[in-house]
Amino acid sequence: MHPSAQSHRVLHTPVERHHRATIALHWATASLILGAVALILVRDLVDTKALRALLLEGHRGFGVLVLIAATARLVQRARRLPRPSEADMPALFRRAASATHAMLYGLLLAVPVLGWALSCARGQAVYVFGLGPLPTLLARSADLADTLADCHGWAAWSLLALVGIHAFAAMWHHFVRRDPVLLRMLPSLFATRLQARRDADAAI
Ligand code: HEM
Ligand code: HEM
Repeated sequence: MHPSAQSHRVLHTPVERHHRATIALHWATASLILGAVALILVRDLVDTKALRALLLEGHRGFGVLVLIAATARLVQRARRLPRPSEADMPALFRRAASATHAMLYGLLLAVPVLGWALSCARGQAVYVFGLGPLPTLLARSADLADTLADCHGWAAWSLLALVGIHAFAAMWHHFVRRDPVLLRMLPSLFATRLQARRDADAAI
């Protein structure tokens, strides 16, 4: 048995998982961010004007959906859906996780709002996959648009850096600490398979 597994006995006990809606919103948000970033990066490689416009519109659509999904998640958090117990987690880990999650939520709201404001400052209407336009947040201004473009870019790259640290921490929990933190956030099919593999390793 892995030495650290002895101190965190999660094996052969069913993992107490996050609420289904929490898991669905978590992975939907992650996929939408991936979509928004992929479209804006592909846009950099394309020269055709019409295709660039289409890719930017897709980027904005995914970005607005991130804003909606993050808001839904915060509303759901405020409703206090049942959460797995964190009693087995040292206080330092709990504090580090809460701080990272708070920063993630802040950026999940700030990045799309800055992108939306940037589009308004450029005088461009925001559509979400053909639906809209969304309300105009501010008047057209080239100077403000430049500042907002910088802020949106910096906030977006900070969000991605934080996501990297967050995903690394999830892997560390699973592979090094061998606790159920990742298992309880995975969709049931993956969680069941990973736990079965972990149980099989432990039985050897
Ligand atoms: C763009 C990508 C991602 C974003 C924006 C994101 C955001 C978040 C947020 C805000 C939470 C806190 C949920 C809450 O308690 O309210 C969370 C939890 C969690 N995330 Fe992510 N996440 C992302 C990707 C990932 C990836 C790739 C992994 C795994 C490799 C992961 C694993 C987890 C786990 C295990 C938790 C639960 C932590 C706990 O129970 O304390 N996330 N995520
Ligand atoms: C979480 C969601 C979002 C992420 C992660 C994201 C990420 C990015 C990134 C990485 C860039 C490139 C910045 C650079 O040049 O360094 C960008 C540019 C841009 N984004 Fe977003 N964005 C999001 C949401 C939005 C939304 C909701 C809108 C508008 C409604 C938007 C509008 C724009 C615009 C207009 C640009 C500038 C494109 C250009 O260079 O002409 N973004 N975004």
